[in-house]
Amino acid sequence: MYLAATKPNNATRTRRLADIIFETPDIERLLSYYVDTIGLSVVERTPDAVYLGASSQDYCVVLKPGAQTQCNGLSFQISPEEGDLGALHKLVQAQGIAAELRQDANPSINTSLHFKDPKGTNIEVFAKRTARSGQVASRGIGPEKLGHVAFSVTDVNKIVRFYVDVLGFRESDWIGDFFAFLRCSPDHHTVNFVRGKTDKMHHVAFELKDWAHVQTACETLGKQHIPLLWGPGRHGVGHNIFTYHRDTDGHIVELFTEIDRIHDEDLGYFEPRPWHEEVPQRPKVWPPGLAAANQWGIEAPHTMLEG
Ligand SMILES: [Fe+2]
Repeated sequence: MYLAATKPNNATRTRRLADIIFETPDIERLLSYYVDTIGLSVVERTPDAVYLGASSQDYCVVLKPGAQTQCNGLSFQISPEEGDLGALHKLVQAQGIAAELRQDANPSINTSLHFKDPKGTNIEVFAKRTARSGQVASRGIGPEKLGHVAFSVTDVNKIVRFYVDVLGFRESDWIGDFFAFLRCSPDHHTVNFVRGKTDKMHHVAFELKDWAHVQTACETLGKQHIPLLWGPGRHGVGHNIFTYHRDTDGHIVELFTEIDRIHDEDLGYFEPRPWHEEVPQRPKVWPPGLAAANQWGIEAPHTMLEG
């Protein structure tokens, strides 16, 4: 249990996942994938990074040149109006974690708080960001937004306690005692953590508009000779329709739709959907198995489980 100096509150609580940052030895190849396949648009390019956005989301993916291919960091937003980065700074430091407020670390953000979470991922938290101007036409799949990022971690409880007790996430569901799904917005999960041998990203997930959009996404992947790893299927946990494939750096990418949402936290249950097993569907611990993994009956291949 993390000993928080104060508990997360409206001034410090994480409201949404903003960006995922990838380091890559071949930035042009990965950029081509994100533009021509996923359908993001280049919003800004500096000597150190390429900033990409979805058609309805300002920014969501940052590519940086580097020696290895890896998820290098995540950024989160706190309340633009009530957000208090100074208070969050104290909260993080109270855990014995080094944190630093920086100015202009990102071209669209004046002030942001930087630290590493307990598994070593770089985290940037901000309250306000300069919006880009206008909509950008995209080719490729064209997701609605960056949905969630899943990690394999050696100590699930430690990382869950940090995200809940310090960053203000809520526990949506668990599978057994080894797989946790956390939310910071109405969406069922923004980050999820499964017990593994090492700490590393397992997959990044983009939200599509609807089931028809999943089909056109599969057609796009097929035309580009990018095979699906798993799906289409419907997860039990989160109830999202999913497909998984790999990007040009080998990262697993999920494209999903129809994820569970809690629009009213006071009600304590997910918005009713016909595929729910329980009425109402509340956060719970699922037993491991196909009911949690895929309601449509196909197990994940081993290559998926290994990441
Ligand atoms: Fe996922």
